[in-house]
Amino acid sequence: MERIVIKGGSKLSGTVKISSAKNSVLPVIVASVLSCGRCEIDSSAMLEDVHVISEVLRSIGADICINKEKIIIDSSHIRNGEPTGELVRKMRASFLIMGPMLSRFGRFKISLPGGCNIGTRPIDLHLKGMIALGADIILGHGYVEAKASRLIGSKIYLDFPSVGATENLMMAAVMAEGETIIENAAEEPEIEDLATFLNSMGSQVVGAGTGTIKILGVNNLKEANHTPIFDRIEAGTFMMAAGITKSKIKIEGVNEEHLKPIIAKLTEMGISMEIGNNNIIVDGTNELRPVDIKTMPYPGFPTDMQAQMMSLLCTVKGTSVITETIFENRFMHATELNRMGANIKLDGRSAVIEGVKKLSGCEVKATDLRGGAAMILSGLAAEGKTEISDIYHIDRGYVNIEEKFKKLGADIDRYDI
Ligand code: UD1
Repeated sequence: MERIVIKGGSKLSGTVKISSAKNSVLPVIVASVLSCGRCEIDSSAMLEDVHVISEVLRSIGADICINKEKIIIDSSHIRNGEPTGELVRKMRASFLIMGPMLSRFGRFKISLPGGCNIGTRPIDLHLKGMIALGADIILGHGYVEAKASRLIGSKIYLDFPSVGATENLMMAAVMAEGETIIENAAEEPEIEDLATFLNSMGSQVVGAGTGTIKILGVNNLKEANHTPIFDRIEAGTFMMAAGITKSKIKIEGVNEEHLKPIIAKLTEMGISMEIGNNNIIVDGTNELRPVDIKTMPYPGFPTDMQAQMMSLLCTVKGTSVITETIFENRFMHATELNRMGANIKLDGRSAVIEGVKKLSGCEVKATDLRGGAAMILSGLAAEGKTEISDIYHIDRGYVNIEEKFKKLGADIDRYDI
């Protein structure tokens, strides 16, 4: 079983390069199914989740070649089969293939996505949207089957701006008959990136990245290439690493616009930043102040940064409060942080954090992807040795994370223990 072992206390310095966004790469890979041909994704982050989604598509006949950072997807031989249930249940994003497959074949059956430890994560909004587009939905025996000889454009109002539902419905609607309007759509930058790819395939999507997306259906889509946007969550993780280790580092591969909610909170805490062209220098050497955080849909503070922020706040003198509004069970990392000497009290959807002078290294586990990143951050600042288990969670969303930190001067290694 692999573990990450960190000896805390090293200052970080130098430059780190950010990879492409997991949450862009996954839907873009899935969208390539709509082309009936060959699509190329360049500079892709080679994450565990990328391999899982590739296996899901291979299980229905896609030819996928992964070479260094390039992914070539040939979906001309895809059949309307059932993707391997075990793979679908491994990763919730697999459910995104419902929209494009239904659109391409008029019928599709897929296992319901697996339970996820950060919350119940239902798919009702995806299904309500598909029904609005004219699909018949049959649920049973752990599967969902959708049928529609041709989807018909419609007006869809999402009760909540779900990222996955917005993407799934966008991909379903690009080849529907007539116009679809998605209101209260998620506004995350990855949605705009998906629309850029869909439009380069010949779709007519306008407004992605805002709360109202208009899609005029077309009859077919062509092959296209795409380079996904940088990962704002990975960038934010390194920004917080500078804060927790009281270091100054340069982060290359950032879009300032996408990082606004993170920059705002870190600035409020006293972290200095110099924003350049595609890069940012983060100086965490100042005395930091506690802050209150509420996770919100974009452009609010991202839930995917909540755990890493909690690690940072554990080391900041004073009281901070984090309120998690997106997922109901996303505080599992708090228990692990308390094992390291943090002082966090949970009260429903809020966590009250009293900053402590020092965290102390011990054995902890990565409770989920971002919770795992939080353990790395606290390990970097802790006294002594931190040994993190269950690191497969971390590999789902971070490329060579220990190598990147090592290059910045951290004492961090991966062992098969
Ligand atoms: C995506 C991201 C994930 C991020 C999350 C929120 C990908 C691959 N993953 O996940 O990293 O943490 O957005 O920013 O892009 N909900 C419903 N019904 C639905 C769909 C969602 O109630 O049909 C609820 C969920 O339970 C959750 C909230 O809406 O409470 C947000 O979920 P959603 O935006 O859909 O997240 P994902 O797309 O799963």
